[in-house]
Amino acid sequence: MNFSPTLPRSLVLIGMPGSGKSTIGRKIAAALGLPFVDSDKEIEAAAGMTVPQIFAQLGEPTFRDGERKVIARLLEGERCVLSTGGGAFMDETTRALIKQKGLSLWLKADLAILVERTSRTHDRPLLQGGNPAEILQRLMAQREPIFAEADVTVITKENPINVTVAAALNALESHLLKS
Ligand code: S3P
Repeated sequence: MNFSPTLPRSLVLIGMPGSGKSTIGRKIAAALGLPFVDSDKEIEAAAGMTVPQIFAQLGEPTFRDGERKVIARLLEGERCVLSTGGGAFMDETTRALIKQKGLSLWLKADLAILVERTSRTHDRPLLQGGNPAEILQRLMAQREPIFAEADVTVITKENPINVTVAAALNALESHLLKS
């Protein structure tokens, strides 16, 4: 990695659960010298509850309200690399705000990768209610056309993390040169 583009706005990582938003986001933040923030962690801190607890005790609409508020607050703050939950960009208000105040990067991964990566943990309420592969496939069909509105798309495969990070920095630099 020989360069680090200077970002005019916060970089917002979007993509399906298991696409690597937090892992890759942390590395991109380090390369750019920016703080890394995870919106789910911020929602948990604000609520004093974990994401599964919020879903179970307060319901998904309450989680989405919190997600909308937290992301709006974070986008008002200092420039950072912000990893968002997989459903965040599907919210019309959040999406409009990300487009206005951030630079969005979609980490695109195929179903097999998402299934494999999400099978390692059990902290995703949306994947608990049935066959995770079927749920992920259905969510992908709904979400990918919207994710495609991101400023930059990076395809992540079974590559070492640094390969994806380098691809993301390259794609960002090209985008910034064009805009
Ligand atoms: C969600 C994804 C999760 C978390 C919540 C809802 C979704 O984040 O925000 O469980 O709607 O896809 P990850 O994408 O980090 O798993």
